[in-house]
Amino acid sequence: MDLPRRASTMTPGQRQLAEAMQRGDHFLGEQVHRLETSRYTDPERHARERETFFRGFPTALCPSSLIGTNELVRHDLTGLDLIVTRDAEGKAHVLANSCLHRATRLVEEPGVHPAKKIICPYHAWTYTPDGALRALPRPDSFPGFCKDGQSLTAYPVAEHGGLIWFIGNPDAPPDFSEIEPLGPELDAIGLGDIAVFARATHAVEADWKMVVDAFCEGYHVKRLHARSIGDYFADGVSVADRIGPHQRFIVGRTDHASEVDLDDWSAVREVMTFTYQVFPNTVVIVSPDYVNVLVVHPCGAGRCRVENFMLVPGEREVDPEAMRPRWQKSWELLDGHTFAGEDFRAAALCQRGVETGHRDTMLLGTLETGVAIFHAECDARLAQGVT
Ligand code: FES
Ligand SMILES: [Fe+2]
Repeated sequence: MDLPRRASTMTPGQRQLAEAMQRGDHFLGEQVHRLETSRYTDPERHARERETFFRGFPTALCPSSLIGTNELVRHDLTGLDLIVTRDAEGKAHVLANSCLHRATRLVEEPGVHPAKKIICPYHAWTYTPDGALRALPRPDSFPGFCKDGQSLTAYPVAEHGGLIWFIGNPDAPPDFSEIEPLGPELDAIGLGDIAVFARATHAVEADWKMVVDAFCEGYHVKRLHARSIGDYFADGVSVADRIGPHQRFIVGRTDHASEVDLDDWSAVREVMTFTYQVFPNTVVIVSPDYVNVLVVHPCGAGRCRVENFMLVPGEREVDPEAMRPRWQKSWELLDGHTFAGEDFRAAALCQRGVETGHRDTMLLGTLETGVAIFHAECDARLAQGVT
């Protein structure tokens, strides 16, 4: 089955990487790396990461397809209580979930809701989806207060490649240049045109980087995933390159990739799994007939929450009812079994191990070079102190 896509072909970068895989290039790196384990446990470093990466750099919140026009969803995984809205013109907004009157939480229920107007549950101050204060009861009781121009706190927001991105500082300049090059990449895999089939949030007892690490290397796939997806993949067959601070991988499926026609996108996806590690905290995995977007939210030193979205073709492409059992099976295999039961569990065990203090450093082999690259990027940006 073909995923819908805005771009009819791969991007030049995707094609180059696919050609590298067909040539038999391997992403091995050349040397062993050592990482000091304190990077996963030091609370002071954790605080600096939160400030530098999660308040000063664009991060993904959710797929664009999660909310339609005049809809909203509450989002509280970033440590900021937010509402993500889409106005009647289709523009997305990220707003503080806190009333201008007495700071009451405006939206309590999870899930997607109609949002032509947002009414505070306390005294019924009313806002439009872009956050503007539209009305308040008994305005005569607020002498000197003019509602015009008053608005909920708004965060910088942008949509690229079928994802809604924001910067977790309302005063930050709306600079999304570091994620813009990902737009054509994600458009080429149809991310903006496919629907959210399922989403789930997992609490993981591991530093957020531990979870990202698990998606930057293929060394574990045949071992950790031996009883789930391991048989679908060849051992350590991967190629990778970089897009700015981000990494793009292809992991080879056991089927031979060398003869596949690179003009046939769906055939390519059958034998090559594209994966993006989007700096700092998002992973996009392109399976043959669905896509997973995982966003890893730190919530304290040694703890994080991972939101997993599974995206599937919409009604225009397939009959969703006919596909539902197959997608449900894939969701259970990946979300519950592979991610939660294997990747996240391994991250938590690794965290447990580093917290014992038995080891000051850990070792990364050449099949784990993506992990070393991710940490080098983190270190460089922390050293700069700005992004
Ligand atoms: S606190 Fe929101 S209307 Fe009073
Ligand atoms: Fe894995």
